[in-house]
Amino acid sequence: MSPCCCLALLALVSLTLAANPGVKVILTEKAIEYGKQIGMATLLKKLKTIHIPDMAGTQDLSPIGSVKYSLTEMNIVNLGLPQSDLTLVPGTGIRLSITNAFINLHGNWRVQYLSFIHDSGSFDLELSGLTITDSFAIQNDETGRPTVRSLSCEANVASASIEFHGGASWLYNLFSSFIDTALRGALQNQICPLLADSINDMNQQLKSLNILTKVDNYAEIDNAMVTSPSISKSSIDLGLKGEFYNIGKHQEPPFYPGPFSMPPLVNNMIYIGVSEFTANSAGFVYNNAGALSLRVTDEMIPQQSPIRLNTKAFGVFIPEIAKRFPDLMVELLVKTDKMPTISFQADNVTVQASSTMTAYAVQTNGTLSPLFILNMEGSVSARLKVTGAKLSGSTTLNKFEVALGTSYVGPFQVQSFENILIIALKAFVIPKINTRLEMGFPLPAIGKMELLNTNLQVLKDCMVIGTDVRFPS
Ligand SMILES: *[C@@H]1O[C@H](CO)[C@@H](O)[C@H](O)[C@H]1NC(C)=O
Ligand SMILES: *[C@@H]1O[C@H](CO)[C@@H](O)[C@H](O)[C@H]1NC(C)=O
Repeated sequence: MSPCCCLALLALVSLTLAANPGVKVILTEKAIEYGKQIGMATLLKKLKTIHIPDMAGTQDLSPIGSVKYSLTEMNIVNLGLPQSDLTLVPGTGIRLSITNAFINLHGNWRVQYLSFIHDSGSFDLELSGLTITDSFAIQNDETGRPTVRSLSCEANVASASIEFHGGASWLYNLFSSFIDTALRGALQNQICPLLADSINDMNQQLKSLNILTKVDNYAEIDNAMVTSPSISKSSIDLGLKGEFYNIGKHQEPPFYPGPFSMPPLVNNMIYIGVSEFTANSAGFVYNNAGALSLRVTDEMIPQQSPIRLNTKAFGVFIPEIAKRFPDLMVELLVKTDKMPTISFQADNVTVQASSTMTAYAVQTNGTLSPLFILNMEGSVSARLKVTGAKLSGSTTLNKFEVALGTSYVGPFQVQSFENILIIALKAFVIPKINTRLEMGFPLPAIGKMELLNTNLQVLKDCMVIGTDVRFPS
């Protein structure tokens, strides 16, 4: 096998491996029903724009012979779509069926016959029992966005009735069936192209969807579809990549999305399942960006704390510090030394992080002299919930262990530090995080979309956010 072939094969294998989605989106029947309401309103508007061009021609009507006619200024005066159904076709897409629709039309007529007789008036045409059926396939395009394609469209008018005003009534009978057929055809032929137009509009909007969404100054999230939508009797399931990347620098993490399944869910319109992969790709990105670091100075320690960040306080545990760096402030630099790992369990999100804490004495000229480096292993669990359109929660400390990495001030017992750090974490840090978490974070929304009845469940392997949406009209 040539090296080129090998590479292609490798690329193929890695593509297949990466094909599991990181995020799953499920649109339930409730979403389809809401989509139908919006779709029908749009279609109604569109149908009202139907323009029927003037018609003119010559028709042989016995016994008077050739009649020149024209139909002008035809306008739709009323239009209704009282019955419509949008149903899912497993494996394919969506089927729209509209029945008992009606269109009322008003126009003017004019005839000329026996070469010198003119007659004119107006007419009202009612088309009723209009049925429209259209099947759509929902697929993903080459950019990972959804697209909708019409598979078959049919429009049929069951009956038409026409009423003439003005002119000689004996003409009406001769003429009505002709007008009826001509206009019925003209209207029927416009409905499917109009639907195709609406589908085009929708695809244009889908094409402008952001696949890469900026999260903050460090990260963006890639939400391209990685599989074709799967359509069952009761839902449309989308598989999105759901991967965090450093902005402008797309490096793959050393792990892949695994398969995960979502429980049967029906109460909300939309369910978004976020995998551990997605959460961990965020950990990978923020760690790479150096965003998971914190400089702790004395000003950040609460006033009432008896422990201060200075060499005097540290000297109690390590006399060498007080001796070599008398009366100086101490600064701590905490940073993750590898990416944190996040795991989901029923009602419990656990973050396990390994980090280092370097303590510095701050010289009067500003120079930082390193004192020691501690290696810390910790695990924090969070219970998350959504109230209103806000994500909130609370955390508890599960585990915290400290070991001495390097000392620049001779050997010392780490144990005493561990206890102080745990006290500090429990007394200041965790409550502070909890206060912030309780205030909540607003959930992102798309454009003018409002989120309603939003809820969150943490399950084994994934976190599921359920929500209804509304587009204010
Ligand atoms: C959450 O899960 C972690 C890891 O499995 C466990 O150590 C912790 O006790 C759990 N917390 C709760 C509140 O269940
Ligand atoms: C700052 O002060 C320390 C201690 O007095 C000294 O060792 C260091 O060289 C000084 N640094 C600068 C840049 O002046």
